[in-house]
Amino acid sequence: MDLSPGKHYIVAIDGVSGSGKSSTAKTVARELGILHLDTGAMYRAVTFLALEAGLSPRQTPEIDALVKGLHWDADAQGKLTVDGRDLSGDIRTAPVTAAVSDYARIREVRHSLVPVQRSIGMRQPAVVEGRDMATVVFPDARFKFFMSASPEVRARRRVMELQSMNLPADYAQVLSNLSERDSKDSGREHGPLTMAPDAIEIDTSGLTFEGQVAIIVSHVLKNLP
Ligand code: DC
Repeated sequence: MDLSPGKHYIVAIDGVSGSGKSSTAKTVARELGILHLDTGAMYRAVTFLALEAGLSPRQTPEIDALVKGLHWDADAQGKLTVDGRDLSGDIRTAPVTAAVSDYARIREVRHSLVPVQRSIGMRQPAVVEGRDMATVVFPDARFKFFMSASPEVRARRRVMELQSMNLPADYAQVLSNLSERDSKDSGREHGPLTMAPDAIEIDTSGLTFEGQVAIIVSHVLKNLP
């Protein structure tokens, strides 16, 4: 892999759900003027397409065939299409969110998506965001960050987000869903959520959004030639 600084450098951002990872990664990419690749969106898209095709997570051969047949594309900003379809609206719905951990843990799904993620990320400097960016997909990334936050802070943020969308929000329920997803994502065999030993941990519990963006952007700019 050629990840020479200043050339095709990669900023890998991993972390738990609700740590503020996605919005941070998006803003960091915009401030650095580089591509943003949201790999969670890819696992969500596979989940949406599997549900659409009526495939349960246990139908591994059918899911494997479905994923192998997909054509992924990312524009200059990192906006993804799958077989020419923009699924950004469909992949944030409650059924997809509830099911995605069960599809993301399938070895065949990860084996198909990892090379696609590498090929998109290697084309130009990029902020790549997910659970296994710094450990599995881009172990040689020039910059590695791991975002965390206490479960209570993350649940409060999610409740506020749901309330702002006028959706039902029960704190205890949200907290238990988050914990369930954390343990599924961390406990799986392939590409589990773990912090790379050389990653910088950012606990966002007491940070403002602007503060967490600034930590990453200033670290990258200080360390580029
Ligand atoms: O970041 P997110 O909530 O959109 O991720 C959706 C799901 O995909 C979540 O259950 C974790 C999983 N995921 C993964 O297994 N590996 C990645 N690189 C990114 C996301």
